[in-house]
Amino acid sequence: MVNIEINGIPIQARDGAMVIEAADEAGIVIPRFCYHRKLSIAANCRMCLVEVEKAPKPLPACATPVTDGMVVYTRSEKALEAQKGVMEFLLINHPLDCPICDQGGECELQDMAMGFGKDASRYTEPKRVVPDKDLGPLIATDMTRCIHCTRCVRFGREIAGIMELGATGRGEHVEIGTYVERTVSSEMSGNVIDLCPVGALTSKPYRYTGRPWENQQAFAVAPHDCVGSNTIIETRRGRVMRVLPQENEAINETWISDRDRFAYTAVHGETRLEHPMIKQGDEWKEVDWPTALEYAVEGIRRVSDSAGAAQIGAWVSPSSTLEELYLAQKLMRSLGSHNIDHRLRQLDFRDQDIAPAAPVLGCTLAELETRDAVLLIGSFTRKDQPLAANRLRKAAAGGASIMSVSTLDYDFTFDLAERIVASPTGVVRELAGIARALLDISGTAAPEGLAVLLENLDVRDTHLAIAKHLHAAEQGSVLIGVHAMGQGELAELRALANLIARVSGTALGYLPDGANSTGAWLAGAVPHRLPGGAASAGRDVGNMINDGLRACFLLGVEPEFDTAQPARARAAIEAADFVVAMNS
Ligand code: SF4
Ligand code: FES
Repeated sequence: MVNIEINGIPIQARDGAMVIEAADEAGIVIPRFCYHRKLSIAANCRMCLVEVEKAPKPLPACATPVTDGMVVYTRSEKALEAQKGVMEFLLINHPLDCPICDQGGECELQDMAMGFGKDASRYTEPKRVVPDKDLGPLIATDMTRCIHCTRCVRFGREIAGIMELGATGRGEHVEIGTYVERTVSSEMSGNVIDLCPVGALTSKPYRYTGRPWENQQAFAVAPHDCVGSNTIIETRRGRVMRVLPQENEAINETWISDRDRFAYTAVHGETRLEHPMIKQGDEWKEVDWPTALEYAVEGIRRVSDSAGAAQIGAWVSPSSTLEELYLAQKLMRSLGSHNIDHRLRQLDFRDQDIAPAAPVLGCTLAELETRDAVLLIGSFTRKDQPLAANRLRKAAAGGASIMSVSTLDYDFTFDLAERIVASPTGVVRELAGIARALLDISGTAAPEGLAVLLENLDVRDTHLAIAKHLHAAEQGSVLIGVHAMGQGELAELRALANLIARVSGTALGYLPDGANSTGAWLAGAVPHRLPGGAASAGRDVGNMINDGLRACFLLGVEPEFDTAQPARARAAIEAADFVVAMNS
């Protein structure tokens, strides 16, 4: 730690910290545009100029490291003159279109101009005009407003891992764009809207629909993947207007994925079901709730009386809430049936009795960043859990060996140390090769139950390299992803993943399907376990699909889109006597 003084206040600052970081920690405000604590330092806007004793001219606080005994003034005459000068330069070309700018009310430039700007501009020449860029359906551009802070450029390069935006031209001719005009494709692209300190990049779906001070905020958890990003849902008069990230360093830091940000547009979609409906013959009829509930009770009772409770089942979405999942299983079990399952994309259930209480990550999300080695099995993390992929990207940037065994050649946003692309029936053999190599390295005997899988293997250099990385790791993870869970030989796959983790001393974890798979297991939304884990005996979803049901509850499920066997699932539903679908 070093001792410095800012505006006469003695402060202890971290060695190597920049003046702006020390000031932020002490609650002292220094204006800034290009600086963002999650991005590298560009020091190109000069808005953060401060006076430093013994320095001949003002210095940028974001790029000036603290030194012991340093004396800084952020509001001295010299500092203010420098900040006002920068503001005047920035406003030379910035349009005065705040009344029609979506950023109005939450614009860093607007706020800074209020604090450091002048009443009138001394500049009378025409302002420059920059053609807008078409970045696709999510991000609206007004590039004349851009102040070239390059936050959006650095976000792509450093966080999203895809450099889609960049700066072309020099001096007054600098433009931010995609070089060749095209849609941005990052799963996290919407974060540039929050990062942009002006109204150059704004949300297209939210465009011209409201002002921030009209909205009410509610905190929420994103429902699209198992990361559980913290979000803020903004509403106006009962209507969802937009979704923003809620900062949580342990989960999503300051980011959210695009689906978490923009999926709200479906909330008020025209195809939403707004009233209960019942189908009689081929006709759908809108009814009130008592009629619908009575109809459902009557239908279920009919099936129960004629075919027995074993012919009633429930398929529930792994993205349902804990309360929904608990109540769904309670309903089924009250009817005398244990036929409930949320593992809709799973094909193999043979090892379910020895499965852990719930699929967990095996470490915290933040700890993914500090792993030395990670083996991803059937995980397209970038698409499945973009925020977890961001953590892995940071680990890779820090020198970790991230490796993948999958059935498709996934496009990761970081370099893999090793990659195996296998046929769907070849994944188990590849894992066996890695396990065999690990057993040989560590001089461990193959466990009896897996001896057959580990015999007569062709252990290749890639298997050996993966085994060595995992074996050498002080903190490693073996992660089973969404696509692995749909493998036909899941039992063998899990047994080998478990063996690899155990022999290498790494943590076995899951990056599962849905937002709440863990909750579904704990709530008893599986046929073989009650809430809390006691055993029960019901039919898994594969059995229900293949052998059929007479009555079926669907909770947040579209059989032809959400199951591992879409055609059969649809056929099973069509063949059932009675179906109750609870969808939003
Ligand atoms: S578009 Fe916004 S974030 Fe990007 S450089 Fe311009 S002002 Fe900065
Ligand atoms: S914030 Fe320091 S130079 Fe931009």
